[in-house]
Amino acid sequence: MCSDTTDLTGRRKVKCTAKCSDKFTAKGKNTCVKASRRHRTKSLLISKTSLFLSECLPDFHIPIGPAALPVLPTLDAVEALNDPLDIDNIQADILAGMLKKKELFFFFSIQDAARFKAKLVSDIVPLVTSTSEILSVDTQPITAVNIAFSNTGLVALSLDTNALGDSDFVAGQFSDAGQIGDDPSLWNPAFTGTNIHGVFLLASDTLVNIHDQLAKIQSALGSSVTEIHRLQAGARPGPEEGHEHFGFMDGISQPAVEGFTKLVLPGQTLGVFLLGERGDPFQNSHPSWAVDGSFLVFRQLQQLVPEFNKFLTDHPLGAGKLTPEQGSELLGARMVGRWKSGAPIFLAPTADDPVLGADRTRNNDFNFFIKFNQTRCPFSAHIRKTRPRGDLGPSEDTKNFIIRSSIPYGEEVTPAEADSHTTSVDRGLAFGKFSFFSYQTNINNGFVFLQQSWINNERSVLSLVPAQSS
Ligand code: HEM
Repeated sequence: MCSDTTDLTGRRKVKCTAKCSDKFTAKGKNTCVKASRRHRTKSLLISKTSLFLSECLPDFHIPIGPAALPVLPTLDAVEALNDPLDIDNIQADILAGMLKKKELFFFFSIQDAARFKAKLVSDIVPLVTSTSEILSVDTQPITAVNIAFSNTGLVALSLDTNALGDSDFVAGQFSDAGQIGDDPSLWNPAFTGTNIHGVFLLASDTLVNIHDQLAKIQSALGSSVTEIHRLQAGARPGPEEGHEHFGFMDGISQPAVEGFTKLVLPGQTLGVFLLGERGDPFQNSHPSWAVDGSFLVFRQLQQLVPEFNKFLTDHPLGAGKLTPEQGSELLGARMVGRWKSGAPIFLAPTADDPVLGADRTRNNDFNFFIKFNQTRCPFSAHIRKTRPRGDLGPSEDTKNFIIRSSIPYGEEVTPAEADSHTTSVDRGLAFGKFSFFSYQTNINNGFVFLQQSWINNERSVLSLVPAQSS
């Protein structure tokens, strides 16, 4: 005997006491989900992210992205795991990233909820790219599409967001802009208030593809939505691919996710990022539409690249021992905690080591606890602030882990900007993170904690633990 229900997205869930029939595959002990991979729908609550999860075995490596970054498992490798996640039901960007060079973030407001809801089910959900689709070149769409909703967007769709138990999500990011150290007057006006109901993430190899897909979506939704803001982003050109605008390789250190990767790279730790999945303390109490979703914190962070470079030029380290260029490079590396190649300064304290930087089995394999001082890596280095790796104790507390999904936006620095050391073109990082750990305090434990308690803290993280700071 089976009970057959359909949720808002049209996703059928069948709870059976016996074996699943041909059209369904088992998920857990008593649940069968519709089997056809191409027609399955994905959980509505989004929050995307990226991440290049690891697989150390060469057979499992699909070559995407720079060598420094963890690689993704193949579909077969995930399915061969003991208890794999339902990657048909998880949007691509959360676990895998969109794997394309160009990306467009299209923020919208819902004007006609009934019409939007109908079109969401009939036209949009079939376009949404799942993790399983992105993992294989055979099923990767030309333009990948993911979608995320804000609290006001979910409310407009008549969903009870209090059931998510996340007060930060319900309040919206603008409400705590001051609390996390932002000057709200510097915010892009599009993000102030609560007008944004959702965002489409569209990724492809060309902008033409992206705009074609967006036109298709807009034509389906018609006047049920209006555009609030769009941000175009993309990998930097040539050898800078994978590097953010200051020039540093980004996306190296990412947590692994149980049920998605079999092996964890040295230095990687397992995190929990999905609602209703293992590790979620409220695994069975989320509304069905939220299961396999995650929380996305989206930030549009402007970077003043010519000014940053001038600062490095003006303050070289190692006077008398290093050339001014080497000294400036060392200062930048000590500010980030990695050289531009991605090599960690903890392992290569005096000069860049591009071979180490590109070696994913070594470039994340270090722990500050071994030395417990800042000779090799300053306490203030970006990577030490955002992941103290043992500074707070021998075992790492993974509660504050986030998966980062960042992509640069804005053009390359022009010669005129470089000469004048002054930014005249907006550029920076479209910074998405999924953080989930506790049903009540998910965003709070992840993004808010990192920004407020560690990044904004003028002292080292050790000052938060008096017993260890003496
Ligand atoms: C424009 C702003 C930012 C830039 C340019 C930037 C750049 C970088 C770079 C180059 C790395 C090292 C490479 C890697 O491990 O992926 C890194 C690591 C990291 N960043 Fe950022 N970042 C920015 C903002 C932030 C913010 C706002 C947060 C959190 C609130 C954050 C959290 C992290 C974390 C968690 C890591 C990994 C640390 C580790 O595990 O070693 N970043 N970032």
